[in-house]
Amino acid sequence: MYIALHLLDDIILFLLLLSWIIVGSQVLLLPRKVSSRRQRSGIRRCFVWLGVSELLVLIKLGTLVSKWVFFGWIFAQNRMLLDFPLLALPALSVLLFSFPCLSRMAQSFPREGASPATQDATAPALLVPTLITVVGVALDTYLTLFYTEPMSLPFFLIAFALFCVALWFWSTFGRKIPLFSERRNMPLFLEKQARWWLLPVRLLLCLIVVTLCISGWYSWSVQASRLPDRIPMTGNTTGNTVDSMTGHTMQHQQGQQNDVSVTDLVGPQSGEPNERFTLVAQEAQMRLRSGATVNAWTFNGQLPGPELRVHQGDLVEVKLINRLSRAGVTLHWHGLDVPNGEDGVAGVTQNAVQPGESFTYRFVVKNHAGTYWYHSHQDSLEAVGKGLFGPLIVLPPRDSFAGKDIPILAHSWLTKERGSQEAFGITDTMQRLTVQPGTPVRLRLINTDSLPVSFVLSGTPFKVIAIDGTDLNAPTDLTRQRLLVAAGGRYDIQFTMPGTAVSLDWTNKKSSKVRFLLSQDATASAPALADGPVFNPATYGSRQKTPFGLSSHFDKEFTLILDDMIGFYDGKMESLWPINGKVFPNTPMLMVHEGDLVKVSFVNRSWMDHPMHLHGHHMLVLSYNGRPVTGSPWWVDTLNVAPGESYDVAFRADNPGIWMDHCHNLDHAAAGMILHLGYEGVSSPFEVGHDTINQPE
Ligand code: C2O
Ligand code: CU
Repeated sequence: MYIALHLLDDIILFLLLLSWIIVGSQVLLLPRKVSSRRQRSGIRRCFVWLGVSELLVLIKLGTLVSKWVFFGWIFAQNRMLLDFPLLALPALSVLLFSFPCLSRMAQSFPREGASPATQDATAPALLVPTLITVVGVALDTYLTLFYTEPMSLPFFLIAFALFCVALWFWSTFGRKIPLFSERRNMPLFLEKQARWWLLPVRLLLCLIVVTLCISGWYSWSVQASRLPDRIPMTGNTTGNTVDSMTGHTMQHQQGQQNDVSVTDLVGPQSGEPNERFTLVAQEAQMRLRSGATVNAWTFNGQLPGPELRVHQGDLVEVKLINRLSRAGVTLHWHGLDVPNGEDGVAGVTQNAVQPGESFTYRFVVKNHAGTYWYHSHQDSLEAVGKGLFGPLIVLPPRDSFAGKDIPILAHSWLTKERGSQEAFGITDTMQRLTVQPGTPVRLRLINTDSLPVSFVLSGTPFKVIAIDGTDLNAPTDLTRQRLLVAAGGRYDIQFTMPGTAVSLDWTNKKSSKVRFLLSQDATASAPALADGPVFNPATYGSRQKTPFGLSSHFDKEFTLILDDMIGFYDGKMESLWPINGKVFPNTPMLMVHEGDLVKVSFVNRSWMDHPMHLHGHHMLVLSYNGRPVTGSPWWVDTLNVAPGESYDVAFRADNPGIWMDHCHNLDHAAAGMILHLGYEGVSSPFEVGHDTINQPE
């Protein structure tokens, strides 16, 4: 519904632009029509197109009002604020001034052969409002769809206001200005000339000027969008940080003397680890189950990387060795709240580990027992895409689960033969698993893809027992519901194996071909695909006491509004997903003090899902679309915010450092959908940018 309204709004904007350009040209051409018959039909066309255009304005405002009514003011706000001055007011002035002018003209020659009303055709009351509306709609379209940073909205609005005044001046006193035709109040270049070739020549000149302007704008935009060669990770390049208490942008003091460096925020450097792993990043040609080949980047030659199983409270040591031929690597423990220096983000908490180098991570596992994953956070769009990731399972100190425990990593692989292939692990077809009836089964659903995956379990009731590594309270049986897991997110589900087959599918479409089929023997046929509604964690399970809630006093409150635009990013034209109107590195750093209780509101005004992932912390979901969460406490590290949705979440700032907070659709992150959570008094010696070896996304 939201996406439909949103796209409708875009489409109407285009139609508006078109119809107002037609109105504008019809009105401008009126004075050229010398015979009364042609003028009469010109006026009629003006009326028709004016009617259509004004109607479109009404429809456009209608879609915005519906957005407002059904989704809330914040979802309509940005476009309302553009449409009001640039569209609604100008269109109203056309109704008030131009329309009466036209009617007067129409009435002034009721009979065939009456003299043309050239005088009215050049009246400023007709021309000025119409032209203002045409320019207003064009500007509205540009500002709605294009990312204009570093030029700000007020700049354009003031420019527009000046243009309106100038136009009025020009058309009122234009007769004295030689640029204008004396007789018809038209720009001279459109005047009929004695020499026939003057008009085409002038039009050609106009075309050249317009082309020059556009290419000038293009190359200026490309240049202006180039990212700085070095972006220090303490504060932002712009030095902009947001202090939510005052709402002011303040200068974050960079790298002060008594600052703690992220390199000091590490796990225990001594002590015999309980678990020791070595992960070697290396290139390998791998085969999916269907036989399709992937030019993969692997850990230890495995795809996905090896399963790391650790226990709560363990001291874990992981040695990363990079044997790739050209790319840097890091290890990020997605969902684990490790000390900042172990977080593995290139350019923020360490330098990317170069080919031939190694790096050792040491941390104590403080999180709940549950499902996590690890992946490289250097150029993660490419690295995760190619396979530098794996499951990370935290078990309780004494694990007593005596059933089947199966991590399932949903991923899209780029294959040589078939392009992008969806798969569970490397199962891009169907895979059978033998499970005896009565066996407890725990499936750990991990979405390592960039889009939400809708897992479908058919053939048995099941419980969702954990989300993002945290157990849910009193989960109940679900039957046909689909599980929409955020990119980067995890759901753990559990059931007791029935006597018949159970299937897990990537989608609920009949064409589903990515499937795990669990059955007693190899002949059982698949159950009918479940096709119920999407599971909603906000109302699932039962309430339990939480350390804070909606009525708590928050030390910091931030609102992050997610939008869609087209724009230039680092010299390329791309889809951009600004956060509060900005893309990295212009996004603000959210500054907190250690111990702060922080509330964050996510509002997705765009047409795509944004799985928002905060490093180093778990966020308690407080409310969904303004309604409080009524089910089990729902803790997340990756929250899918769908179009038209809003969430309030809260977390305790108890893990000092500089933490990424970004969209886990890695395409979006690579186009700047990133910001950082910074603790006062923490600085980082690392930098990202072209002149460094670090590029986290
Ligand atoms: Cu799994 Cu910053 O990411
Ligand atoms: Cu996104």
